[in-house]
Amino acid sequence: MTKVITPPIKSQGIKTKLVPWINDILPNKNGKWIEPFLGTGVVAFNMGFKKAILNDTNPHIIELYKEIQEGKITPQIVKNYLEKEGEELRNAGDNGYDHFRLIKNRFNESPNSLDFIFLSRAGFNGMMRFNKKGQWNIPFCKKPERFAQAYVTKIVNQVAKVSHVIKPNWEFHNQQFSEIIPLAKKGDVIYCDPPYYGRYVDYYNGWTEEDEELLFNQLKETEAKFILSTWHHNDYRENEMIEKFWNKFNIITRDHFYHSGGKIENRRSIVEALVCNFDLDKEISEHNHGIKEKPKQLSIFELTNEKVRTPNRVDGLANL
Ligand SMILES: C[S@@+](CC[C@H](N)C(=O)[O-])C[C@H]1O[C@@H](n2cnc3c(N)ncnc32)[C@H](O)[C@@H]1O
Repeated sequence: MTKVITPPIKSQGIKTKLVPWINDILPNKNGKWIEPFLGTGVVAFNMGFKKAILNDTNPHIIELYKEIQEGKITPQIVKNYLEKEGEELRNAGDNGYDHFRLIKNRFNESPNSLDFIFLSRAGFNGMMRFNKKGQWNIPFCKKPERFAQAYVTKIVNQVAKVSHVIKPNWEFHNQQFSEIIPLAKKGDVIYCDPPYYGRYVDYYNGWTEEDEELLFNQLKETEAKFILSTWHHNDYRENEMIEKFWNKFNIITRDHFYHSGGKIENRRSIVEALVCNFDLDKEISEHNHGIKEKPKQLSIFELTNEKVRTPNRVDGLANL
């Protein structure tokens, strides 16, 4: 595939690195691409579908992409905005923090898409997090020179690329995933990247075992093809949701390395998984763990009639 299109917003859960892998196993591109947990949109923007239904409970994400689709936010508007605000950031007191704070307060009082891009790109480590009141909750990256010309150009080009990729007929929704999955029909592809169970929680990212079970119940009944992203295991434990729900389907896995600090000894690995309800008939040798054995081959019909174990509630967050 050609170079991955990167979106103008960032988040810690961004799946840029999984894009070629997902693209590789796509069963078809003729139906609709349905993505109930859109996030930054990086997966949708790189799959090459003409029709799409894109959804997220985070209204700022959906509003931004709708405004790009409608031409309310253009590359030129973003350029003018970032040049102006970047200049103010450079000259602001407290090493730029005064201006970052101004934008943050303005966004939290009255959210708008341009300030959303600013916060996403001037926040610490490209993270996106909202507090209990639904307010932006990531501190400044502490770089008053953040919006230097080259960086502004990079973001403007990202907006230009995304505005080209988003088609006028693409639908955007700001609902629960459970409202979106039933819209899928035979021939469509649903890609789900829900918050990882047992991981971090914020205003838009609460995720319980009940949510996982509802997702499982909806996906096992869909007539569409689906691909689900999740984690399989790390050095310390297995993702119990795999055994509980997902290993009834096909699963492929691969290693993902990340740093939880600057030092080499802080390198940690997690095994990422893609779960799908279709056969992977292509050569997948580049996926370093191959296909996981299913305990028993079940047809969709059998799955529909299968009784799902009652979930045990696990409270609190575990470290991945
Ligand atoms: C892991 S992120 C998706 C990341 C995305 N694949 C990317 O590459 O940027 C999960 C997304 O699901 C959204 N979300 C969380 N709970 C949801 C729910 N119940 N229904 C729909 N979206 C939800 C969050 O706002 C977040 O943007």
